[in-house]
Amino acid sequence: MSDQNPLAGSIFPPSPEFVAQANVSGMAAYQALYDEAAARPEQFWGHLAETELAWQQKFDHVFEWAPPFSKWFVGGQLNASYNCLDRHLDGPRAHKAAIIWEGEPGDTRTITYTELHRLVCRFANSIKSLGYQTGDRAIIYMPMVPEAVVAMLACARLGIIHSVVFGGFSAEALKARIQDLGATLVITADGGWRRAKEVKLKPAVDEALLECPEVKHTIVLRRTGSEPEMMEGRDLWWHTLDETSHDDCPAVPVDSEHPLFVLYTSGTTGKPKGILHTTAGYLLQTTMSMKWVFDLKENDVYWCSADIGWVTGHSYITYGPLSAGATNVMYEGTPDTPAFDRWWQLIAKYKVTLFYTSPTAIRALIRQGDQWPDAHDLSSLRLLGSVGEPINPAAWEWYHRVIGKGRCPIVDTWWQTETGAILIAPMPGAVPLKPGSGTLPMPGILAEVVDLDGKPVPPDAEGYLIIRRPWPSMIRNIWGDPDRYAQTYWGRMEGVYFTGDAARRDADGYFWVLGRVDDVMNVSGHRLSTMEVESALVRHPAVAEAAVVAKPHEITGQAVCCFVTLKKGDYNHDVLGKELRQWVAHEIGAFARPEEIRFSEALPKTRSGKIMRRLLREIVTSNTVAGDVTTLEDMGVLTRLAAQQDEP
Ligand code: WTA
Repeated sequence: MSDQNPLAGSIFPPSPEFVAQANVSGMAAYQALYDEAAARPEQFWGHLAETELAWQQKFDHVFEWAPPFSKWFVGGQLNASYNCLDRHLDGPRAHKAAIIWEGEPGDTRTITYTELHRLVCRFANSIKSLGYQTGDRAIIYMPMVPEAVVAMLACARLGIIHSVVFGGFSAEALKARIQDLGATLVITADGGWRRAKEVKLKPAVDEALLECPEVKHTIVLRRTGSEPEMMEGRDLWWHTLDETSHDDCPAVPVDSEHPLFVLYTSGTTGKPKGILHTTAGYLLQTTMSMKWVFDLKENDVYWCSADIGWVTGHSYITYGPLSAGATNVMYEGTPDTPAFDRWWQLIAKYKVTLFYTSPTAIRALIRQGDQWPDAHDLSSLRLLGSVGEPINPAAWEWYHRVIGKGRCPIVDTWWQTETGAILIAPMPGAVPLKPGSGTLPMPGILAEVVDLDGKPVPPDAEGYLIIRRPWPSMIRNIWGDPDRYAQTYWGRMEGVYFTGDAARRDADGYFWVLGRVDDVMNVSGHRLSTMEVESALVRHPAVAEAAVVAKPHEITGQAVCCFVTLKKGDYNHDVLGKELRQWVAHEIGAFARPEEIRFSEALPKTRSGKIMRRLLREIVTSNTVAGDVTTLEDMGVLTRLAAQQDEP
């Protein structure tokens, strides 16, 4: 796909029709909100927390900050599940669709708020009957079915901390997360449907649990009907437990700062970090962004195509939309099944008005041609969203023209697992769009681009994206590792949150996020650490050393490229290359499967023995090396690596 920037310098102001109906109408309204939050953050957030959330007990004060630890809405008690369900049942939302779900085979369900409340209560009672209670930890390893949301909300209802593990993760990855979290319950399914095949989940749970003696039970949803092995006493069917459950399960009031969930994400070491989010602040900011960024109205039909296993699924399928009382479309499978128009068909069928997806998906669909979206009536759409990586001009232009018919604003939303909610994005009825820019920060977000000393860089200069002041939905800790939390996010510049992203800010104050500055790759919008893949590779008996770098990729943004040195032995590189790719998929998950394995006699290292990944990155990007190589130990290694042509 050619990516000459046809939109350089273009500005797309909101249409007068959009402005007229917007939740935040016009630049002055945005600016007033922003200024108010900047000048009086405690009043600003305190007022929103009081009016936008339902409390069992009101908080005493808004904010405590003992860097790097913050507390919001101190002394308050509430329940996230109550906020997503019960509070909607008194009025017209009671019979509004909360979830419109379609399975990949075409089965459908519409679940109203009343019905969702009933399902959540019944499942919470099932968990309760097994003796689980507030503070326990549960792993959710499920396909994209409504029960995944039910499981999250049932845990939240009881104050049980959940950790959703993406169904594409392997048994190894699942095991590491169960152990790190000290989980005692695993909620799973026989499998799910993906590209017309069953992806089994229960066997991976069985494999993981061989080394997780603390897990007392698994609860297994029947989705595909395959017959997984069930271990007597440990494994229980969801539907069997449901037979004796009842509909009434009061939500347990928890402290504002009670942990809501832990979600593991890749950092710069081999060990994933358990990002901890707590209840009130997270819920408030995800709720607000539904109104501010997605311009949510009572009659909208909202669809976020993310998987529940990533933070986007947490904040923008479960907690944000349901707390805001939205109708949520949820789809189980892939966009190409049975054909490349499945998503467009779903938008037409359910009259989706707000659609949120990723640049990598857009690029993959562009390649299939306009005939697929053109065959469907997409006129219900009124706003499009993008998340996960910078959206490139060609993808933006196509999304805007072919999907949005030039009519729908595109909200390019910058945020992270750690930020909990969207931090930089346009308010679509106020902020003029510049394709490729997340535009301006949300109220209360003091974002800046600075140098390593923390000093702001001039307009258009590249620097580090940082946030100056804590915000309600901020990460509270890394599970079990407060030192890593302090060091990773608050250790670079005093009192300042370090995002790990490079960015520039133009003369209008718009943010342009350029990508990661650390060893974190972004493959199809999913974070993956180079170290994690390296650790997986060196666990293979043939591998002596490995260095992993990201390589630019037309569809997935980046792809994983591995440089490997082998132990003594006679190896067929073709066979071993395939085996190692499969090995990484097995150790981490299929989405981490390397695009390329290159074998080498040695890796380029500095005299102190550090692998020079920068040089390897240059090799995979351009096949030449231009950078400074004065610290390189063996120049010969480098020339040989550069001379190698890509091997599949
Ligand atoms: C990148 C996903 C540019 C960024 C919600 C960030 C983006 C990382 C954008 C977080 C965007 C996400 N423009 N870059 N709109 N959205 N990123 O934790 O590098 O999976 O640090 O959260 O994705 O990825 P994560």
